[in-house]
Amino acid sequence: MVGRQPLELLIQVRILAPENPQSRGRCYNPGHQMPATGEPSSASRTSPRTRDMLVVVLAAGDGTRMRSARPKVLHELAGQPMICYPLALAGQLGAARVAVVHAPAQRSAIAAVTGDALLVAQRQRLGTGHALNRVPQPLRGQREVLVLYGDVPLLTLETLGRLVEARRDGDLDCVLLAAEVADPRGYGRVLGEGALSRIVEEVEATPEEAAVRLVNTGVCVFRAEALWPALRRLRKSPRSGEYYLTDVFGSLPRRAVITCSEEEALGVNDRWQLAEAERVLRHRRARQLALSGVTIVDPETTYIDAAVTVEAEARIEPFTFLRGQTTIGAGSRIGPFAEITDCRIGRDCSIGRSHLVQSIVEEGVEVGPFNKLRAGSAVARGSRIGSFVEIKNTLVGPDSDVHHFSYLGDAVLGRRVNIGAGTVTANYDGARKSQTVIGDGVFIGSDSTLVAPVRIGDDAYTAAGSVITLDVEPGSLAIERNDQRAVKGWSRRRRKSLAKNSR
Ligand code: UD1
Ligand code: CA
Repeated sequence: MVGRQPLELLIQVRILAPENPQSRGRCYNPGHQMPATGEPSSASRTSPRTRDMLVVVLAAGDGTRMRSARPKVLHELAGQPMICYPLALAGQLGAARVAVVHAPAQRSAIAAVTGDALLVAQRQRLGTGHALNRVPQPLRGQREVLVLYGDVPLLTLETLGRLVEARRDGDLDCVLLAAEVADPRGYGRVLGEGALSRIVEEVEATPEEAAVRLVNTGVCVFRAEALWPALRRLRKSPRSGEYYLTDVFGSLPRRAVITCSEEEALGVNDRWQLAEAERVLRHRRARQLALSGVTIVDPETTYIDAAVTVEAEARIEPFTFLRGQTTIGAGSRIGPFAEITDCRIGRDCSIGRSHLVQSIVEEGVEVGPFNKLRAGSAVARGSRIGSFVEIKNTLVGPDSDVHHFSYLGDAVLGRRVNIGAGTVTANYDGARKSQTVIGDGVFIGSDSTLVAPVRIGDDAYTAAGSVITLDVEPGSLAIERNDQRAVKGWSRRRRKSLAKNSR
């Protein structure tokens, strides 16, 4: 009844939409190629020496300014937790080891997103220097240590590549990444130059120092042999009681500063900065896709998550949200006003204003306007889903039509099926969900109610307005409704009686 091709589709959609979907709130690609962090660069080529690097992501801060119960680094940016961005960079650099310093209370929440990274607890929050010094001995074998901050998500691989190269080329103890910013408030200021440079934290800065607009991004690469002893020598700031990593920088003899753009330096301390970071990522992604051959009509109102892929020659109309691990095939037209989450959309599809979740849409399918495709749905090639149709956990076979206001839940449709306007699968009896199976070439009359479990054989018909509770044999017509009766002269008699009563 259901051909081989559609069955394969059914299996694929089960994989895409498992019973308990867990895809949100994770790094889509922990430690691997991630498109959102920047343009491709030479640094992405893993040199054998990069494999000698430890990357430490500092993420134990309490993020008070977020005013949130959720750890700051787990707030989402372009569809994934903020900490995924430094982790992806570490992966792209080919670091041998990646460690995340976290607050003990946040261990399980952080572990749920960080993949293979090693977790290092910082029990007392005594500053960035103290945090780095929590890294245990067995992780200290690498020759080079790159420190990233969990709340600095906009850095590009290209910039980190430059940072690492600068240290290696000069065989330096440490190279710091700084940025010239319009408003330096909230950052440590970088004073002096080259080997004489040092950082003064905002709370410690004199008014003249505070006026400096070259700021510390927090990102720093160290020669391990120089770093670990210097960390042991670090003293608390008398003013704040914290151990500043920035003081380590100032204590190493062979040091230098390189700069990046203000945009990349953005540290997310509150939700306004979170929104700013989101805007930057959105722009970067749209630009990247546009330059790769995708038409993005209006980047300002197009929201494409970091892990979404869109093939060239697709066209994304305004007010469209592409979320999660969605893929869009070449030549498809999406939107306006479409929201698509974790779906696979094939080539040459047209998705009008609709809402699609964890579904597969094959080549040449039309969806919308005003459709809802819920988890576990698959629409095979050449089919059309028209206005006000909701589909849940349902396979629509190839070349089928579901044109107007219908609900199909837990159903399997064969090929060349026509679903009349207002068809409803009654799949739920209040306790259990049951399946409706509709064979090839079936014609379901308008306003049919298919009470599941029920099977409609190949080439069968149901008459409009029927409530189908029994299986229908292939090739037959199922009709379930009373014969129509005519009451002659009824209208005239009614008018008369109404007139009489009103006198
Ligand atoms: C820090 C820098 C500042 C820089 C700014 C860039 C220091 C002393 N200051 O200031 O020079 O301009 O970042 O954004 O380094 N963290 C821990 N444990 C701690 C404290 C912090 O893991 O005990 C982590 C935080 O989770 C965060 C990062 O380190 O990811 C930076 O901490 P935060 O408190 O945000 O430092 P800033 O005041 O922003
Ligand atoms: Ca910060």
